[in-house]
Amino acid sequence: MPATIETTTINSAIGRDTPRIDGPLKVCGKAMYASDFPFPGLLYAVPVEATIANGKLQRLNTSDAEKMPGVRAIFHRRNIGKIFRSVLQPNNRGIADERRPPLADDVICYYGQYIALAVADTFEAAKAAADAVRATYTKRKPNVAVDLQPDNEAEVVETARGPLNRLQSQRGDPENALASAPVKLDQTYVTPIETHNPIELQGTTAMWDGQTLTIYEESQAVFNLRSVLAQMFGLPTENVRVITKFVGSGFGSKLWPWTHCALACAAARQLGKPVKLVLSRRMMFQSVGHRPRTQQRVRLGATEDGKLVSLMHDYVTDVDMLGGYRENCGEATSYFYSVPNLRVHWGRTHRNIGSPTAMRGPGAVPGLYATESAMNELADQLKIDPVQLRVLNEPKIDEGKDIPFSSRHYLECLQLGAERFDWASRNPEIGSMKRDGAILGWGMSGAAWIAGRFPAQANVELREDGTARVACGTQDIGTGTYTILALLVSDKTGVPVNKVEVVLGDTSLPPGPTSGGSLATGSVVPAVFDAADNAINSLLTVATTGPGSPFENQKTDDLAFEAGRVFVKAAGPAKGMSFADLLRRTNMALVSGSGKSEGTVDDKKPKVSLHSYGCHFVEITWQPAVARLRVNRVVTVIDAGRIINPLAGRNQIEGAVVMGVGMALLEHTIYDPQNGAPINSNLADYLMAVNADAPTIDVHFLDYPDKDVNPVGARGIGEIGLAGVAAAITAATYHATGVRVRELPIRIEDVLTSSIPT
Ligand code: MOS
Repeated sequence: MPATIETTTINSAIGRDTPRIDGPLKVCGKAMYASDFPFPGLLYAVPVEATIANGKLQRLNTSDAEKMPGVRAIFHRRNIGKIFRSVLQPNNRGIADERRPPLADDVICYYGQYIALAVADTFEAAKAAADAVRATYTKRKPNVAVDLQPDNEAEVVETARGPLNRLQSQRGDPENALASAPVKLDQTYVTPIETHNPIELQGTTAMWDGQTLTIYEESQAVFNLRSVLAQMFGLPTENVRVITKFVGSGFGSKLWPWTHCALACAAARQLGKPVKLVLSRRMMFQSVGHRPRTQQRVRLGATEDGKLVSLMHDYVTDVDMLGGYRENCGEATSYFYSVPNLRVHWGRTHRNIGSPTAMRGPGAVPGLYATESAMNELADQLKIDPVQLRVLNEPKIDEGKDIPFSSRHYLECLQLGAERFDWASRNPEIGSMKRDGAILGWGMSGAAWIAGRFPAQANVELREDGTARVACGTQDIGTGTYTILALLVSDKTGVPVNKVEVVLGDTSLPPGPTSGGSLATGSVVPAVFDAADNAINSLLTVATTGPGSPFENQKTDDLAFEAGRVFVKAAGPAKGMSFADLLRRTNMALVSGSGKSEGTVDDKKPKVSLHSYGCHFVEITWQPAVARLRVNRVVTVIDAGRIINPLAGRNQIEGAVVMGVGMALLEHTIYDPQNGAPINSNLADYLMAVNADAPTIDVHFLDYPDKDVNPVGARGIGEIGLAGVAAAITAATYHATGVRVRELPIRIEDVLTSSIPT
């Protein structure tokens, strides 16, 4: 084998604004989402939901439903067939937040838990039959209380991902350091339950062929889903195929499988026909995860001149009764600022709600809302500029893990953000800044998010028509992964982006990364590069051995490949031949190469701290006369390594900032204390930021390659844009109104207490 080939493409596609290659398919309605695939004899399934949140199913009357026209079956615990429990596998696949298989017992833990499944020839018949199923229960009062006191759990808690220590991080003597600190802050910050609302509803189309199960599902992790289903149905892994061609966004709700998926598979097995089950928007609020409520006490101790001496972050989150999930609010706490004495400790409290799960920036997003809010309050207390307070506490290393940062340019983010926003002209006095009859509020916040790689494999082909193909079993959840792979292959092979076919979203492809944790892009880079190198190696072998090749008498080591051309190094590229011509001359349809890279995310002893950084500067306008609070302008600077596609990248950050506006001002899932139902479970009552709420957003990337992550130096950008936005907005709101809001979302009645005149 020749050594790794140095390819230098003069006009690399990496780093250039590139419209999404799947855009035309999407805008023409030709992109096939999971529930779009038609199958002969397809049946429709609609689940029956529990209408209590705590108790036992006593009796289920299905006889009326069974007699309805078009109904094939009403499934329940006694006729659904065996569905096994799945567990986490040594390869870290098999993740699910709700471990109990559907219909496993009669215990009702949350409102909307599935108690039966109606299957019929049409969706309408299945819905009518589901509505006709009658259930009686023994009820207990549900616990959906919003005040969170940690349950009396052991210090090591069992979770769906294994045992976890509740003492998350500790150094120095934070209690005593706080007690003797000249300046102290002790505040509690609350974030509500939020529900993911991707436009594409969740659903499964399942079909069996003997002992082989194929499903179409909008999954953020097809290989994980395959592992869970193989376990639940007692199948060899290779007998399960998961296909996910397009995802209408997920935000984390589609990372891990939920109970409806196994129900659809079981129904298809029992009936011997393909079955499609698509959830309603209401069900999306009940049974496919949400961001848990958090209550976070932050204590800061500082010197008079603003140096942190103690940081304590104690947080409680709610969790469902089955209790597998853990929200890591402390992820960014231990390394973000330099502080010699620190403790991060957490607890959970069980509620009669569906399982929480990861939602965009899980843990760090609510966590940084709390810690960055505390930093802003401390700055006000010290009368130090909040940017300056952060500069004063910039760490040299990751003090939580005692290792260097791979690449950290947080201070440059702050400096550039402040410049672009004109932060220097801020008057810190409350209510002092006005424009066009409105009071202006200015606030800022830092942001951080994890970086790294999942293990990944890929395959690259170079074809005789001059095109390339790349295949990887990852998925594009709307973030631009198709385009990223095309750009990577184009960079390596010189094939124009529009001539690279990208194949994703299928467990029959080489295993690819989960689309989660903002890690997919960083993970695919080395695997795709390795695959492309190997395809080029194969090409050079063909060049030196293939009959008909003009390089037949050369050694592969004397050949080079650059910008799609093979040539003799000594002669230069002008005397070379395009790979397409070479393949045609040697009568070859294609050459291919496989590539592989290891992950970093399960590194127990990492050598460097891999994170992305950023900051937001926010302007709000407050019009007290009409009680109108609006986020007007946001400047966001992000340090996320090399940006492969800045066009899609800026778009990701803009979307996250808009989501942050929703987090600060609107999003809040409310549970009825009587029956435990999420009561604003529709897009009219669950308010999210829409176009009319979107501020002017100026996104800037620093673009420092982080070669500890991959050869391109690209980290990820899916989540970091949301981190910190809410803390900047609450700070800006305080600056305009004098009202300090510590529980999200900010309600208009909170700021009505403002006494600042226009
Ligand atoms: Mo993200 S919450 O890892 O989809």
